[in-house]
Order: sequence, then C-alpha cells, then structure tokens
Amino acid sequence: MTNQYEAALARASAKYRLSAADAGLKGIIPYKSEGTRWIGSPFAGNGWWTGGFWPALMWQLWVYTGDPFFRDEARRVEGLLTDEFRRFTELNHDVGFMYLLSTGADYKLNGDEQARIDTLHAASLMMGRFNPKGFFRAWDGADRKGFAIIDCMMNLSLLFWASRQTEDPRFFHAARAHADTVLREFFRPDGSVSHIIEFDPATGARVREHAGQGYALGSQWSRGQAWGLYGFTLCFLNTGDPRDLAAAERIAANFTAHIRPDGLTDCDFCQPSEEERLDNIAGAIAACGFLELYEITKKEAWHAAALRLVDGLLDRCTDFGEGIRGLLTHCTASYHDDGAGRHTNIVYGDYFLIEALMKLTGRDPMLWR
Ligand code: GLY
Repeated sequence: MTNQYEAALARASAKYRLSAADAGLKGIIPYKSEGTRWIGSPFAGNGWWTGGFWPALMWQLWVYTGDPFFRDEARRVEGLLTDEFRRFTELNHDVGFMYLLSTGADYKLNGDEQARIDTLHAASLMMGRFNPKGFFRAWDGADRKGFAIIDCMMNLSLLFWASRQTEDPRFFHAARAHADTVLREFFRPDGSVSHIIEFDPATGARVREHAGQGYALGSQWSRGQAWGLYGFTLCFLNTGDPRDLAAAERIAANFTAHIRPDGLTDCDFCQPSEEERLDNIAGAIAACGFLELYEITKKEAWHAAALRLVDGLLDRCTDFGEGIRGLLTHCTASYHDDGAGRHTNIVYGDYFLIEALMKLTGRDPMLWR
C-alpha cells in the first residue's frame, strides 16, 4: 500500500524540481497556478497569510530529495517574508502559518540562528495580538477588533514553540487561554465548529457568530473543520491536555461522516446537494490531522479516514504532468469569493498533500513543532 505514496512523492518532487524554478525567476511567492503560470497572492503582496507554505513545501521536498535547489528556493522566500517584518501592516495572527513553516523550518532542519531569531520575532508579533479577555485577534480593520477564528488553532503552534525556546510560559498561557475560549464558544452539538466568533473586545463577552468563508451562517465550512481538527491535535501534542484531544476527536468524527464516497471534500458540509463545489485543501489538511490523531490514539478509524482522503486526491485530483505548475486541483479559497480561486490549484493544498505523503512514508519532519 505504501508504494502508491512513495510513487506519488517521487513524481511530485520531479515535477516541482522543474516547475518551482519559474517562481524564482519571477521573484514571487506562488499563491496558485493556472496552466503554466505561477501567480502571486491577489491580496497584500508578500504579507498574505499563505506565504509560508511555499518555503514549507520546498523544505519538505529538500528533506525528501536532499537536493540543494529546494533549500535555496525556501531561503529565497524566507528573505521576502522577513522583509515583511518592517512593512508590518499586513501581518496578523497568521504569522504562525507564515514563519513557523519558513524560518521555523529552517531553524529546525538546519539550526540556523538567524532563522530562530526571526521565528521568535514572529511569535512576539503574535503575542501583540492577544486580548487578555481570552482570545487572539485574527484580522485588522476597525470593525474586527473582536474577531477570533478557528484557523488560529494552527497558529498557536508558534506560541507553544516559542515557550519551549525561551523557557518563558507567557506564550503558552496565552495560547492556552485562546484554546479554552475556542473550546467554550466555537463547538456545536454535532461536533462541527464555527469559523468566526466575534467578542466584545472590551469585556470578552460573546457578540455573535459570522458566516465567514463557508456557505452560510451556521453551516460547516470544511476547511474550518480541518483547521479545528488538525489545530486541536497539535494543541494536544503541545499541552498533553485530554480536553484538546477530545475536541480534536469530536471534530474528526463529524468530518469523517462527511467524506464523500469518492474521497474528495465538499467546500461546505451544508452546501446545497446540487452544488458541485469542492475544496480539496480541506481534505489534505484533514488527512494530516487524522494521521497525527492515529499516531496518538492508534484508532484505526482515523487512519482509514486519512487513507480515504489521500487516495481520493491521488486518484482524482492531482496533476503530475505539465497541465498546471502545481499539483492538487479543485481547491477553493472561499465559498462565495471566486476571485481568490475556485476549483483551481492553490499552493497550500499542495503543501498539505505533500505533508500527508511524507507522514505516510515515515519521513515527515513535523514542521509544526
Ligand atoms: N486561514 C484562512 C483560510 O483558510 O482561508
């Protein structure tokens, strides 16, 4: 069974060895590919939240191949990301995604001291977004001072890392406080989680839920479910708190019930049945979460769910040829915003598919810790 995953990794790395060079020539951080073109983020330039996934992908492929091309390409983009520290205005809670997977990966894999300092810098920026009423503010904008989002569960990993690095529990306490708020306010009786909860920034009182990137208010945006699943799994790996594991398994049980027969993932688990709108990024993220959950619990159901998802992607929605620059097809950034990409290739989908393949073949360097 493993051979199919070995073969996919070999084909993916060969494809990327050729196609990634174009990104360097253009000097961009690829956000998605359309046909034979890499395209940078349509928003916020190099400060957009997805910028860390390209270097992370390069680091994974460097671990897999040992080819210095991938290391050099990762470092090219790390330079662009650390330049964003000075611009600052586009950075938000997603510094977790951006820097743990880029400079953090460089430090983890190579021990580079400047990369460690840059990652601590990012953790300090994230701490600046903590509202002591118990949550991390997600985004900027005058009307969003009290917005907290489920995606942030992934960003907490940067804080847990910083606490260990500095032996200073401040980072841990803030991450724990946010996770406690999510446990209290984001979960629904069916095991699904909200995307956005708005709090009163002065008192911390819950104001309302917002629909966010899913189909409608109260629906189940699949990528949000995947962020919660993997995010609480990582949280448990950092805290050892059984409440975090129970939360991850609650989301996992609900996610499992919504995996399509073909192994692909709808953009929203509540979308109209006649709507064929997929988000394969959600399936790739969830597969990584399921594989980590399996390592922790040894429950076969989580392993089986991961294989259904990865097999669905490999069988139906990957392009190892020259049709597109990237790998994974049918990725959708947001249910109602086709401008960011609908049923297209988006780089963080490729990242999570490769991370899942690295886990399945026993090679994943675990860049989230
Ligand atoms: N973190 C934003 C998203 O998943 O689109």
